[in-house]
Amino acid sequence: MKKRVALIFGTRPEAVKMAPVYLALKESPIEPFVIATAQHREMLDQVLDLFGIKPDFDLDIMQQRQSLSDLTSRLIHRLDEVYFENSFDATLVQGDTTSTFAGALVSFYHKVPVGHVEAGLRTDNIYDPFPEEINRRLNGVLSTYHYPPTEQAKRNLIREGLPPERLVVTGNTVIDALLWTIDNKASLTTSFRKRLGLESERYILMTMHRRENWGEPMRNVMLAIKDILRECPDIQIVFPVHLNPAVRDVVYTELGDHDRVILTDPLEYLPFVSLMEKAFLILTDSGGIQEEAPSLGKPTLVLRKTTERPEALEAGTARLVGTDRKKVLENTMELFTNSDSYSKMATARNPFGDGKASERIVEHLLKVL
Ligand code: UD1
Ligand code: UDP
Repeated sequence: MKKRVALIFGTRPEAVKMAPVYLALKESPIEPFVIATAQHREMLDQVLDLFGIKPDFDLDIMQQRQSLSDLTSRLIHRLDEVYFENSFDATLVQGDTTSTFAGALVSFYHKVPVGHVEAGLRTDNIYDPFPEEINRRLNGVLSTYHYPPTEQAKRNLIREGLPPERLVVTGNTVIDALLWTIDNKASLTTSFRKRLGLESERYILMTMHRRENWGEPMRNVMLAIKDILRECPDIQIVFPVHLNPAVRDVVYTELGDHDRVILTDPLEYLPFVSLMEKAFLILTDSGGIQEEAPSLGKPTLVLRKTTERPEALEAGTARLVGTDRKKVLENTMELFTNSDSYSKMATARNPFGDGKASERIVEHLLKVL
């Protein structure tokens, strides 16, 4: 009989990073089942559509302005029902979201072993990123199999006492997703950029959504954006804005009426990748985008105080600039004016993977199940 593996995920980045694992399992002797929590709704569906994934279970959890405690308790309750009514040989979760933590916990309660994709990322600061740093650590404890993307992530897990024989360094599955998307995309998309109103050859692509940046830090970055636009009269900024009202309130208030800022709803993955490909520079507090950008040769300024991705800093593909107005302005201007600095960042090697992470995860599961 085929082994049955449940993949639990619910937000946009988890869907991007689990899609290639699902597609690889589909090609294997294992039978995958997608349990979409729909912690995100529209932003999840965009990814499911692109990769042609139809969830076997859709918990439709999302509520507007959901709190962490309420989200967690509803997730546990609904996932528990699925695990009572169905049997699985293993569960896969990805990263550090609330869906991931609740999924690992419920799977553990049902004595179904958990495999943690993108294991071992750490900032060692429990409030940054909040609550993700704790979700990752809890997943480390709850999981039986660990798939750290890099040697550094593996070292973090060994430091915490996890047995090396249960750790498999795979690379990050986001690179698999990115390469799949680049391979499968139709002709790209000057017309899409035109429709968006992008006329400048030099534009900055930016995103910002993390909880610890809500309010003042985000406002400071928006002020820095206005400074940058003042200093560089020929550039445009394109900013797909997360659907979280806590983010939209600040971004639209600060940048809503600037004629060289294009604010959009979250973009589907394919057009988003095409915008990354042609951008001059990326400003973001996103984890996934930091991992993807170096494969497209795009320098990234990370709008955060801490990072769980030191590999990017060591490789020189990203700089950690935080949310200080002056620092964001200075680093951006330096990349606009110093072509040596720019090309060093643009040509550095991507340390996050080679596009074969999903293959390695499936191989490992075939061995252990
Ligand atoms: C979550 C993850 C974060 C990840 C981010 C990716 C947790 C604790 N955080 O944060 O690690 O980086 O997703 O984007 O799991 N909303 C919509 N439609 C959508 C998605 C969100 O309207 O498709 C709005 C809703 O009002 C929702 C709110 O955004 O309540 C917040 O969503 P939530 O998943 O709780 O938090 P994120 O900040 O997205
Ligand atoms: N992304 C997307 N459309 C957008 C913005 C981002 O498809 O408008 C993709 C991006 O390429 C990456 C993922 O979403 O694969 C990152 O998600 P997000 O920044 O929400 O979460 P994080 O990675 O920070 O957890």
